[in-house]
Amino acid sequence: MNSQMISVRAAEPNELVPPDYFSELDVAGFFPSEGALEIDLGCGDGKFTLEMAEHYPERNFLAIERLLGRVRKVCRGAEKRGLENVRVLRLESLYTLEWLLPENSVDRLHLLCPDPWPKAKHHRRRLFQEPFLKAMVRVLKPGGELLFKTDHDEYFEWCEEHLDAFEGLERLPWGDEDFFYPKTDFQIQWEAEGKRLQGLRARKPA
Ligand SMILES: C[S@@+](CC[C@H](N)C(=O)[O-])C[C@H]1O[C@@H](n2cnc3c(N)ncnc32)[C@H](O)[C@@H]1O
Repeated sequence: MNSQMISVRAAEPNELVPPDYFSELDVAGFFPSEGALEIDLGCGDGKFTLEMAEHYPERNFLAIERLLGRVRKVCRGAEKRGLENVRVLRLESLYTLEWLLPENSVDRLHLLCPDPWPKAKHHRRRLFQEPFLKAMVRVLKPGGELLFKTDHDEYFEWCEEHLDAFEGLERLPWGDEDFFYPKTDFQIQWEAEGKRLQGLRARKPA
């Protein structure tokens, strides 16, 4: 094979491959039906997205994940369950929020068990800080919500501080019984190890 040739990977069923990575993406147009749009940022193996999509067939779910093996797993899981309301995007979350998704287009964003980057020298890699918060507010519809969970106490405090210092989102109470909210793969793993998860819910003012 010519070393200059580039091999192009075939898309998985349910995978959303943007026609152009440098222009705004018409996400709604990739789903067969209109519906509220929810996004799972860093979906991992996708248990949460798939269960949500099954529970809320009238809503559309976009799962974002940068690791190919996980993208494949979620795509195949959606196909196996016949879920037409799931699309999976293999891309970096912040880039997607800042550059691809249209302003005021998302009903709920889920950021569940993201990497806590515990070492101080790695804190700058944490997603939950001002650029990410600004990008989330940009894409959320007025009244749209962010739901966040972590098992890491120090990261949770960091997130609370960043949220309190940020003016674009208002915090809401979030009780376990407020609405259907399945556990993620990592949540199950952490809870099995005896760790406690903490959550934040916030809304873009209407
Ligand atoms: C700790 S796992 C949590 C997965 C899932 N949310 C759960 O709770 O089971 C974090 C996931 O986010 C993905 N990830 C981390 N940073 C990302 C980024 N900037 N953009 C997209 N995916 C990311 C990782 O590849 C990994 O699958």
